Amino acid sequence: MVTFESARTLPDCDAVVVPVVEGRIEGGREVEAALGVELEPVMRDLATGSDDAPARVLPTLGRARFRAVVLVAIPPDRPGAVGLREAAMVAARACGSFRHVSTTLTQAGDTGAVEAVVEGATLGAYAFDRYRREVEPSATDLVTLVDPRLSDADVPIANGSIVASTTNFVRDLVNAPPADAPPLGVAELVAGETAGAGATARLVTGEALEQEGFAGLVAVGAGSHRPPCMLEIAYDGEASGRAPLVLAGKGITFDSGGLDLKPLEAMVTMKQDMAGAAAVAGAVLGAARLELPLRVTGLLALADNMPGGSAWKPGDVIRHRNGISTEVISPDAEGRVVLADVLAYGAESRPRAMVDVATLTGGGGLGPEIWAILGTDPELVDALIEAGSRVGDDGWQLPMWPAYRRYLRSSIADLRNSARSSRYGMPALSGAGYLRAFVGDVPWAHLDTSAVAGRTDADATAAWPVGATGSPVRALIEWLRSDAQG
Ligand code: BES
Ligand code: MN
Ligand code: MN
Repeated sequence: MVTFESARTLPDCDAVVVPVVEGRIEGGREVEAALGVELEPVMRDLATGSDDAPARVLPTLGRARFRAVVLVAIPPDRPGAVGLREAAMVAARACGSFRHVSTTLTQAGDTGAVEAVVEGATLGAYAFDRYRREVEPSATDLVTLVDPRLSDADVPIANGSIVASTTNFVRDLVNAPPADAPPLGVAELVAGETAGAGATARLVTGEALEQEGFAGLVAVGAGSHRPPCMLEIAYDGEASGRAPLVLAGKGITFDSGGLDLKPLEAMVTMKQDMAGAAAVAGAVLGAARLELPLRVTGLLALADNMPGGSAWKPGDVIRHRNGISTEVISPDAEGRVVLADVLAYGAESRPRAMVDVATLTGGGGLGPEIWAILGTDPELVDALIEAGSRVGDDGWQLPMWPAYRRYLRSSIADLRNSARSSRYGMPALSGAGYLRAFVGDVPWAHLDTSAVAGRTDADATAAWPVGATGSPVRALIEWLRSDAQG
């Protein structure tokens, strides 16, 4: 665990992280005085800020009371707290061998700077190492934020730590190998966090799933030896008696494609197909840990999608909790089917708004930095996009297109689970169009997060290494925080 503190002047330490803003160093005078060297001319000779040279570690060769100066660029296209957070992530990854790290990063920002730097440093220090024999754990256990303007930074330090450690919990859930993370196992890990956070959990399994009408979850989970379940987690910090917010998450603990078996290249990242449920869990836990004055419920639809002898089949018809029926066309379009009953269940409580998060379509994404959002309520959609942009967890809206419902018509049921193939596919729109049938008139938004859930080799950057990102959990937490405020 890393402890964060603030100080007005530079303490004795092992390394000092100094930000570079458009070729200028920020808050580096004390560092220069301690070194007896001017940093800007040194820095001009170094490329800083590209993904190839994200942070520069300069040894001080015994000339100062710290062993290294670490120069880290704040990307000019990421103003304010977003750039600071990213710089702190990059710096933390470069500083793992130093025990006590000081930084003048907050001096390059204003409101929200402390929280962003604490959050970034904690996200940057994340590593998923539990399956390695040889682990080099980070040595960093103390970070001092050096800023003459700071007096009491305890609250932003606590908040930044909560957001980042909750995000890292989500990353752990998503990174876990599928053999070690079955539906019930994920539910137990999440439920195990609720009491300590001030939330409650209700697990629905076995017969009860059927009795409560979660037919889609039962159908999708049928082909696996590991049974499906629904976990409901709830946090109630409401003082004013408003209705709750409901979040629903796709939690496919492994998506093999079912009887429409995926080829290996497509299957190899499918342990991440529960990232929506993991982000929803993180959002509810985050709200509880931040003690936000609102009510929020998370519904996690957890199942394996496997081609076992009792697997669901093309041609099957599923009758969902709200009476709507689905004809199964593709056993690989399972996410919408597990979400259907859960959304119908969520809508019954008449929430103020409902948001679902799902790695729903491979073809519907906007690349690894932007989740797609579609919804019935423009204000809700805007609030989610704005929240995401404040914290560097960005989204972009795609249209709901009612006329495209014709592609979801079935000859024997109310809906089919995958759209009639059109020459020009629109998978994210069809997915959202299908889910729309289960939310009634509750203001609703759907986040398609396939592309943002995890970074591959090709997608990795200095801030985000290969593996789970937790996205969109930070956008959701920020949205809940802004909702609680106003
Ligand atoms: N989990 C996948 C979507 C996905 C693909 C997520 C790649 C992340 C990376 C989903 O269940 C799926 O298989 N979707 C199909 C579309 C469906 C309509 C058959 C797809 O993307 O091909
Ligand atoms: Mn899937
Ligand atoms: Mn699938």
